[in-house]
Amino acid sequence: MPGFSQATDLAAWKALTEHHDKLGRAIVLKEEFAKDPERFNKFSHAFKNSADGNEIVFDFSKNFITEETLSLLVKLAKEAKVEELRDDMFKGEKINFTEQRAVYHMALRNTSNKPMQVDGKSVVEEVNSVLDHMKEFTEQVRSGEWKGYTGKPIDTIVNIGIGGSDLGPVMVTEALKPYGKEGMKLHFVSNIDGTHMAEALKASNPETTLFLVASKTFTTAETVTNANTAKSWFLEHAKEKSAIAKHFVALSTNTKEVEAFGIDAKNMFGFSDWVGGRYSVWSAIGLSVALYIGYDNFHEFLAGAHAMDEHFTSTPLEKNIPAIGGLLSVWYSDFFGAQTHLVAPYDQYMHRFPAYLQQLSMESNGKAITRSGDYVKYTTGPILFGEPGTNSQHSFFQLLHQGTKLIPTDFILAAESHNPIDNNKHQRMLASNFFAQSEALMVGKTPEAVKAEGAPDELIPHKTFLGNRPTTSILAQKITPGALGSLIAYYEHLTFVEGAIWNINSYDQWGVELGKQLAKSILGELEGEGKVDKHDSSTNGLINLFKSKAGM
Ligand code: F6P
Repeated sequence: MPGFSQATDLAAWKALTEHHDKLGRAIVLKEEFAKDPERFNKFSHAFKNSADGNEIVFDFSKNFITEETLSLLVKLAKEAKVEELRDDMFKGEKINFTEQRAVYHMALRNTSNKPMQVDGKSVVEEVNSVLDHMKEFTEQVRSGEWKGYTGKPIDTIVNIGIGGSDLGPVMVTEALKPYGKEGMKLHFVSNIDGTHMAEALKASNPETTLFLVASKTFTTAETVTNANTAKSWFLEHAKEKSAIAKHFVALSTNTKEVEAFGIDAKNMFGFSDWVGGRYSVWSAIGLSVALYIGYDNFHEFLAGAHAMDEHFTSTPLEKNIPAIGGLLSVWYSDFFGAQTHLVAPYDQYMHRFPAYLQQLSMESNGKAITRSGDYVKYTTGPILFGEPGTNSQHSFFQLLHQGTKLIPTDFILAAESHNPIDNNKHQRMLASNFFAQSEALMVGKTPEAVKAEGAPDELIPHKTFLGNRPTTSILAQKITPGALGSLIAYYEHLTFVEGAIWNINSYDQWGVELGKQLAKSILGELEGEGKVDKHDSSTNGLINLFKSKAGM
């Protein structure tokens, strides 16, 4: 335990409160830029990515910070013992204390093979042995050496999983589509809504389809039900149970349940309980990624995250990119009352990135109990949302520019497009919007400027933009596997820093359990005879209406 319960008790928190009272919304970003021509250089950091040799620039200069703010935020991190908790995490200590587990997904991407241990036992060998298995299998499937039950090569992958066993693989395979194997079709079935599985099966040929049943626990109701449906569909065609071995593999920690399902343990790719679901894309759960982009690219993806781990563990807090990102989030949430965090990738391939970050951030820091068991006296995890630019500009950005809410926003762009079509015209237009949005959000438009454009008096307030909206711009060279790995790890560590300061356990997720339990008992009622009367009148009324309308 870090020696404090409420973050509000820390001296630096109090100093930040005073600093906010002085600086508060009195800070005018455009004036800060006018005052200090070095502001961009001072508050932006270039991350050198050893995985692909490229740089990613994180520009924090359009945020509500001065040098004093940053030094107080760093003080807060020091008092909250963020570095000590980080070091404990990287030592394999059981910082997920409510589940008595280490938080060690960084060991899965330890591409430099540094010694890493849990419970005094090295984990490097077991990680590398699963990676070797993934490499061998990936090469067999991609080369056509792995054959289906009628001797045909595999051309379709169906990943069955939900939450962390789905969002990472979907997001990464979409983001890295330019590296994908031509002709390989991918489907991700997560929803228990039968439509999801039905559509995937309609588009699949049992002779050439490989099902990856992805579930850390192998007990998740949606995944087990979907996997059984896929198995029945497959057996209707293949008839012989022995054919399952060529078409079903499991990505899981639970050998017993995998075998009970009918998948041979040699077709299982394992990992350990120190890998949280939302941090598992680096593990065997990433098999669909490796199959699609090839093992070497998957390795580069891991190396990109490893490079960010190295930066996070070795850089002083003042210059530590994920630490600054996390501290800014605390600054906005708790001192400015911001309730949200918007992430807008200007990259169509990254269209699922915000959805992925939603689980990472909101399942990690959607908590209200401190590590000492008290209810927090401040707000914690923001509501994360996002959509790619430029589409989002034409839907909800209106609220960013002229609404009443403060929405700290991250913009992400790569300098090089994977599709420089029309002589790079699209890329120039995309980039011009990326730059224009953060500038517009900052500078706004004064009533005088609106008037000078000839607007009639009654329209002047409607066309005025207050500006002074904070943004972070992230400029990568290109979205390579290595760059994507680093970006994900950036957000993982940012989430860690937030949680460490809020003094909550970012690594459990008890909040999803109640709904699961109730759904289980209501399922029994839907399957039973007669009217339901055990709930409140709304729930009873709705269940009974549903039963009669659905003919149950
Ligand atoms: O219910 C939430 C959750 O436990 C997530 O944390 C997890 O990613 C998801 O369900 C899927 O779990 P599993 O991989 O065990 O099927």
